[in-house]
Amino acid sequence: MCKILKGALVMLGLFAGCSENEATAQEPVEVAKGKVAVIYFSWSPDGNTRFAAETIAKKAEAKLFEIKAKTPYNSDFRACCDEAKPECYGKILRPIEKIEGLDLAAYDVVFFGTPNWWGTIAPPLRTFLAENAKALEGKTVALFQTHGGGGMQRLGKEFAEAVGEKVKVLAPKAFPGSSVRSATKALETFVTDRISIK
Ligand SMILES: Cc1cc2nc3c(=O)[nH]c(=O)nc-3n(C[C@H](O)[C@H](O)[C@H](O)COP(=O)(O)O)c2cc1C
Repeated sequence: MCKILKGALVMLGLFAGCSENEATAQEPVEVAKGKVAVIYFSWSPDGNTRFAAETIAKKAEAKLFEIKAKTPYNSDFRACCDEAKPECYGKILRPIEKIEGLDLAAYDVVFFGTPNWWGTIAPPLRTFLAENAKALEGKTVALFQTHGGGGMQRLGKEFAEAVGEKVKVLAPKAFPGSSVRSATKALETFVTDRISIK
């Protein structure tokens, strides 16, 4: 039922707009082993972004951290869409839990993962970026996202805006959520196109 509803919403163009992934224009960034973190938010019971994050973390030999909203979103898809819509369009910062054991100072490269929500990054990720703006300065970051058919939409652009100018932003990539579990190779290539572990 949930999958049918999601498919219908995408078909109806509720999540309008679709753009290409940005190409990797540069050589992979060299990074020391152990200096990579993967930080993600995922909402659906399918855990599409979680799967992508786990696969990316394994390939990058990275520590994995999850962002959680202090007040979880409604577990019903349509209700969650309604709840998230004003936050996404208004760039409202949804309060998040403190992530136990995360010290950003220990990492040089951070991969960030989010589902595509209303064409942009999910509010809990926006909150994390805002709360950690200072700690992210000087680091290299890259966004990956999973989506329901809309592709990259505004995520790459708004992620880059959210991290600010003192952060090196590598090319983002979008993965269709429904087929992410058969995209292991593409997820691994996402990593090796961007970083080379010394
Ligand atoms: C609140 C909400 C808004 C969404 N908005 C979009 C959208 O604008 N474009 C799109 O392609 N998919 C959209 N989706 C679908 C999700 O991006 C997709 O199912 C994703 O893979 C879910 O990742 P998760 O399992 O990690 O939560 C939306 C889903 C939700 C719950």
